[in-house]
Amino acid sequence: RGKTAFIAGVADANGYGWAITKHLAEAGAKVIVGTWPPVLGIFKATLDSGKLAEDLKTSTGESWEIAKIYPLDATFDRPEDVPEAVKTNKRYASLGGYTISEVAKEVEKDFGKIDILVHSLANGPEVTKPLLETSRNGYLTASSASAYSMVSLVQHFAPIMNEGGSVLSLTYIASEKVIPGYGGGMSSAKAQLESDTRTLAFEAGRKYKLRVNTISAGPLKSRAASAIGGGEKGKKTFIEYAIDYSRANAPLAQDLYADDVGSTGLFLSSPLARCVTGVTMYVDNGLHAMGMAL
Ligand code: NAI
Repeated sequence: RGKTAFIAGVADANGYGWAITKHLAEAGAKVIVGTWPPVLGIFKATLDSGKLAEDLKTSTGESWEIAKIYPLDATFDRPEDVPEAVKTNKRYASLGGYTISEVAKEVEKDFGKIDILVHSLANGPEVTKPLLETSRNGYLTASSASAYSMVSLVQHFAPIMNEGGSVLSLTYIASEKVIPGYGGGMSSAKAQLESDTRTLAFEAGRKYKLRVNTISAGPLKSRAASAIGGGEKGKKTFIEYAIDYSRANAPLAQDLYADDVGSTGLFLSSPLARCVTGVTMYVDNGLHAMGMAL
């Protein structure tokens, strides 16, 4: 039986979500994605324009496709949670059913039970501010969009997942070590996400026989990472600095591509990882193991 995978947080072909989607599709899964309403229009237009034709090819040159794109705002669980200002916002007004519970219902209606759930999204409106200057609202919004969103996705999707299914998210080393510049409470949100990975692995393991893991990924110049900022006065941006630092100091002094995270994502989502759950798996050229730069 072919597997169905829902990947939340895909809006272009550069991020980790796309790379995981591509690897799952290449392995034969039916892939469906959830896209944040503010970027849904541009994503669909880019797909329709044919500009992603090369990205929609597997390593052996065959085409793959996204079976359906759902609007998804992972900061809302139910329709009654959506504030009037969002409902009437021009990016949302023409859409319906973008809260997590509604998307889960739609997916079940369209595809029945699914096998693989991927959370590849994060948002921290004050990410450019040090924690010392982060407002309560900025901190809680980062936590809501980047950590609770995972809890809610599991709450609503686990009941429509087949036994033996896999849940996967993406995290970052800033949860456990100080990464200057990764602000706004995003480091805190990633710490929550990793802790929740263990608790959800236990709870969803017992209740639904699902596995729950997270990949701690090395730096990639995605749209989200570019929003972290920096780069004033001709200096490197945060993500440029992080990539160069990793290249210079990681045990494996080699480039890290989104596809490297895509292939590990495929492994963790597949029966090869049948007994792997509750882990934070580093896909970072080993940088996490270093305590001092050479
Ligand atoms: P990305 O920009 O491709 O993905 C982030 C996605 O989150 C975007 O598609 C955005 O539209 C979506 N999003 C934001 N708020 C949302 C909301 N409220 N509801 C639904 N979707 C929402 O960037 P990237 O970097 O691939 O991010 C994917 C995951 O990888 C994130 O969890 C990120 O923290 C993580 N990660 C990224 C690293 C990097 O260096 N790029 C390093 C380690 C982890």
